[in-house]
Amino acid sequence: MRRKIVAANWKMNGSGGFAKSLISELKVQLSVLDKDVEVVIIPPSLYVAEIRRLISDASFTVGIQNTAQWDQGAYTGEVSAKMAADVGCEYVLVGHSERRQLFGESDQVVADKVQQVLKSGLVALLCIGETLSERQAGQAEDVVSRQLQAALQSLDSNSWNKVMVAYEPVWAIGTGKTATAKDAQAMHLHMRNVLGSMGAPASDVSLLYGGSVKPDNARELFEQPDIDGGLIGGASLIADDFVNICRAV
Ligand code: PGA
Repeated sequence: MRRKIVAANWKMNGSGGFAKSLISELKVQLSVLDKDVEVVIIPPSLYVAEIRRLISDASFTVGIQNTAQWDQGAYTGEVSAKMAADVGCEYVLVGHSERRQLFGESDQVVADKVQQVLKSGLVALLCIGETLSERQAGQAEDVVSRQLQAALQSLDSNSWNKVMVAYEPVWAIGTGKTATAKDAQAMHLHMRNVLGSMGAPASDVSLLYGGSVKPDNARELFEQPDIDGGLIGGASLIADDFVNICRAV
């Protein structure tokens, strides 16, 4: 069912000490957050177990930033979705643009990862979005359609409740530039239409926006009818900023 979500993508930042102090700050400040809003912490994978322990008395959930496209085996350095489930993750980011761009993840790899995540019973938080040159060439909607279709085309009809999608225009990630609320809303509506055409219960799928979300732009973005929350990078590392973004949802 469609939910309001704020997910903190810490990327490759922090340490055990950092995690401890940020989580304790969030627990205090978010203890009175609206029960309808789910806060997901997505730390570097080494800290997942520690975060699980730290949040055992809070209502947050935990995710992982990446898992392998394979089940198990001789894949040095990789972590499987099944292992992520085993240590208590509920969400897996799949196809983040940094994975696509820096680690060469193709649409096919992303699709295989989605399948592994679903097989493990976790929620796939699929990330999609166009680059600046694609937007300038008027191809943003086509790119988003292609990425959605490629990643989710072989989903069976029972799996849609285990999929969420984050629209993250690549040009907005970590740059301080954000899509306007109007453009972001238009793309989210387009995504719902594409999902509907693929047989998804489109109005039940949670769609998040990501890309330089900050306390001062969060409210306007989250007010849009098709934006159900956010995937937050830089601002999720600063307790006050993240708290204010969560409150804006
Ligand atoms: P940002 O990152 O908020 O720092 O732009 C968002 C993301 O990459 O998920």
